[in-house]
Amino acid sequence: MLDELEKLYTQSLETLGSAQETAVLEEWYRDTLGKKGKIYLMTRQVGQLSKEERPIFGKRINVIKTELQEAYDGRLGELKSAELETEIASSAIDVTLPGRPVTAGGLHVVTQTLREIYRIFGDMGFQIYRSPDVETDAYNFELLNFPPHHPAREMQDSFYTEKSDVILRTHTSAGQIRAMREYHPEPIRVILPGMCYRNEQITTRSSIQFTQVEGLAVGENITFADLKGTLTEFAKRLFGADRKTRFRASYFPFTEPSAEMDVTCFLCDGKGCQICKYTGWLEILGSGMVHPNVLRNGGYDPEKYTGFAFGMGPERITMLKYGIDDLRLFWRNDLRFLQQF
Ligand code: PHE
Repeated sequence: MLDELEKLYTQSLETLGSAQETAVLEEWYRDTLGKKGKIYLMTRQVGQLSKEERPIFGKRINVIKTELQEAYDGRLGELKSAELETEIASSAIDVTLPGRPVTAGGLHVVTQTLREIYRIFGDMGFQIYRSPDVETDAYNFELLNFPPHHPAREMQDSFYTEKSDVILRTHTSAGQIRAMREYHPEPIRVILPGMCYRNEQITTRSSIQFTQVEGLAVGENITFADLKGTLTEFAKRLFGADRKTRFRASYFPFTEPSAEMDVTCFLCDGKGCQICKYTGWLEILGSGMVHPNVLRNGGYDPEKYTGFAFGMGPERITMLKYGIDDLRLFWRNDLRFLQQF
């Protein structure tokens, strides 16, 4: 019987060595080392042996079992890596195929305008000052000299919240008070960019949200000449050195005197066209000398300090610059529109 065992051993090793697929290997395992395999059947025959032969046979069969198991593991590893290799070879990637193009993103055209405005005012020494979109009625109106029932509030219909005093800011001017309260009595030269919100009908010319860039300069001896000089220089840098500007008297509760600034139309050069409605001029921003009450609310003594402020709408400037006739295009996320800039 020992002979039989040795024969089984060598034969099993041979078939194992010649197996070329993992499937064949598995079958071999079931037949040889499996629960009802040949080795098991041999073990069951041990009872037919003499007392002396039994331990020798038992020892030998255990050694053979381990060796076959090891041989099986080794062969399985070999076949698996060979199979993987053929699979890789047959499904090789064709590196000569053209890749899928990755489309590059770009800056929204209003962001581009904003950054141009930042650059120009940055060159003139203005820092960017961030203030919150969610404001109190006090910062947005009262401290800017709009008393509770002042008719000027009508022009800025607000979004109110359930908290009686909390609103979405209707203009960036709210941040003027925040900047002054932070810096007083130091001089200030800041611009305040950001989103503003008004309860308005959405049309080609108005929206419920839009950006503004506010400007504020406070210090000693600041005059209307500084306002005019700064804003005229800004207009020339943004729209071209040969632009002319004009200031028209206006009204805002938080500035006195107040003015709106126009630039000569850059499309028709002041001759009159559709964009400037045949006036030759384009309205760009609102401005004025900071009202004494506002300076006081910000912590500055109006006897000693003066300042100027201005506010502009980057969407409007972008529309004028590119002859865009519908404000809603900025929010539609239509790539055919956005990719033009
Ligand atoms: N806040 C004003 C508006 O939204 C613009 C403005 C800002 C006017 C600063 C004067 C000074 O219409």
